[in-house]
Amino acid sequence: MTQTPSKSHGRLSIGATLKPRELMSDTPDLAGVWKAKILTLFPEAFPGVLGESLTGKALQQGLWQLETVDLRPFGIGKHKNVDDTPAGGGAGMVLRADVLGEAIDHAMAGTTAPKGGNWPLIYLSPRGRRMDQKMMQTFARCDGLTLLCGRFEGVDERVLEHYGIMEVSLGDFVMTGGELAAQALIDATVRLIPGVLGNHASTEEESFSSGLLEHPQYTRPAEWRGHQIPEVLMSGHHGKIADWRQEMSETITQERRPDLWAAHQARASDD
Ligand SMILES: C[S@@+](CC[C@H](N)C(=O)[O-])C[C@H]1O[C@@H](n2cnc3c(N)ncnc32)[C@H](O)[C@@H]1O
Repeated sequence: MTQTPSKSHGRLSIGATLKPRELMSDTPDLAGVWKAKILTLFPEAFPGVLGESLTGKALQQGLWQLETVDLRPFGIGKHKNVDDTPAGGGAGMVLRADVLGEAIDHAMAGTTAPKGGNWPLIYLSPRGRRMDQKMMQTFARCDGLTLLCGRFEGVDERVLEHYGIMEVSLGDFVMTGGELAAQALIDATVRLIPGVLGNHASTEEESFSSGLLEHPQYTRPAEWRGHQIPEVLMSGHHGKIADWRQEMSETITQERRPDLWAAHQARASDD
């Protein structure tokens, strides 16, 4: 269920702000199952695309769990204000430390983090470390993640310092909120959890898993608008197909991502 402040927070009782959409996006508590807890002003944005296809099916099957924590009920005063003007002046608004602190404490209480578990607290932020496959592999091995989605000009810095929050970025651009970045992170992580993808081998062969970009893929029809599928893929010769794919992977990585290619070569010379 969506978590809203309990009576002990002195503001609202559980269920008081539940909306049908929030109930739909959250899944029941299953012990030991990887879980994403999302602190957001827009809980209705979840599960979003995560509710579709393989991630959606896995969510329904209880292979991973999703919980949204609405920031609004933790707001201050009659209007439940969550933001205020930046100290020192300037444009926009900043999410308040006191509001976020209450919401984070509430969210973290239901995780393994206070018991020494492996449950990182992450703020989606353009200033953060850029997401990559290695990071997602690490996240998939955690008990779960708590993800704070910013809005406006971001969050009061003291919150980040107080909780030692890890900042993670989707890329070198600025979005209006952290929700899309959270969904990207969850999607890329959840598909690495055993059982989520039908064919586990497919995560081992795809881009980045070996440090290289993936080779081209083709399917029927064998000829499309005069373009043929490369002959070797139709040969049925597994050894030749594997060699061709490896060669294509290397060529594409070399051409498109010299940084990955250099790292790949450095690893190869270490071995
Ligand atoms: C308009 S942005 C704030 C940008 C901030 N003032 C800055 O210049 O770094 C609002 C929120 O969107 C999210 N966001 C924006 N771009 C992002 C990115 N590239 N990766 C992850 N989150 C992002 C963050 O949660 C951020 O708090």
